[in-house]
Amino acid sequence: MNDTLDTRDEARDREPLAPGNTIQRGTRMKNQQREAPVALVTGATSGIGVEIARRLVSDGFRVVISGRSEERGSRVVADLGDQVRFVRSELREEGAAGRLAEAARDRFGRLDVLVNNAAVDHTGDLLEVGEAEIREVFEANTFSAMNLLIAVARIMREQGRGGSIVNITSRLASIGVPTMGIYSASKGAMLAFTKAAAIDLAPFGIRVNAVAPGMTRTPLYQEWLERLADPEGEAERVAAAIPLGRIAEPADVASAVGFLASPENSYLTGISLPVDGGYLAK
Ligand SMILES: NC(=O)c1ccc[n+]([C@@H]2O[C@H](COP(=O)([O-])OP(=O)(O)OC[C@H]3O[C@@H](n4cnc5c(N)ncnc54)[C@H](OP(=O)(O)O)[C@@H]3O)[C@@H](O)[C@H]2O)c1
Repeated sequence: MNDTLDTRDEARDREPLAPGNTIQRGTRMKNQQREAPVALVTGATSGIGVEIARRLVSDGFRVVISGRSEERGSRVVADLGDQVRFVRSELREEGAAGRLAEAARDRFGRLDVLVNNAAVDHTGDLLEVGEAEIREVFEANTFSAMNLLIAVARIMREQGRGGSIVNITSRLASIGVPTMGIYSASKGAMLAFTKAAAIDLAPFGIRVNAVAPGMTRTPLYQEWLERLADPEGEAERVAAAIPLGRIAEPADVASAVGFLASPENSYLTGISLPVDGGYLAK
């Protein structure tokens, strides 16, 4: 398996320098940064995506983040530092996936990891849902993610060094809960596509996996909670339904992404990793 993210060569090259040889040491550090693998994380202007980007930076990646809000994107870049670049992208626009993939590759000159994280939430009485709503959810959560996976995989194939793609789905990709049917289906399609793409892309050394979070503490969760009559009571009920007794933190999801993106796990492809405190095990 030819996985791009193998940084062992860099480690091998790190022979000791003569004490005080700061010029050579500085040059070597710059070269290592230039060689560091590059990840694209969509939907990284908010919530889980920001923590995924933070995790990948701490794992030694250079990271291109994308989202629609320039303002939030700039804030994340300022927070995470000069290993991070922002590309604005409305993923539902025609041709957006191809443009984003190329812009991301051009930022640092290579592309090794894609995290398909951008998505919208949807709840609604199933018998009241209209056609336009269904189309909008699938455009944001499914079609754009499929298009981006294909666009990035073409770049990875051209580079010839393999790669790792992680699709953020949901526990609802595999189970039904009231009022979430459209969202569930949009994520269930991504679970099926993860497995299918893993088979098609294996000959190029491109791994494709999914991370399926349970309820996670993000601004969206807080807003949802605050709209309810009894936020504290509901938070307790949500936690009580989870075997580990708490909802996920964004860092829990980011840690699973770091695991799947790592070259140490280069034999993993076509799997879905639940990050749900045991919810799906019940
Ligand atoms: N939070 C949970 O409890 C939970 C549970 C299971 C799965 N998930 C999944 O985890 C992922 C992240 O969720 P989150 O809660 O962190 O969401 P979030 O805070 O609402 O962030 C969503 C991100 O997606 C971007 N985005 C949405 N629609 C887009 C579009 N059409 N084009 C480009 N970017 C778009 C947003 O960009 P802008 O803000 O810049 O517009 C934002 O950066 C999603 O795939 C979600 O389905 C979340």
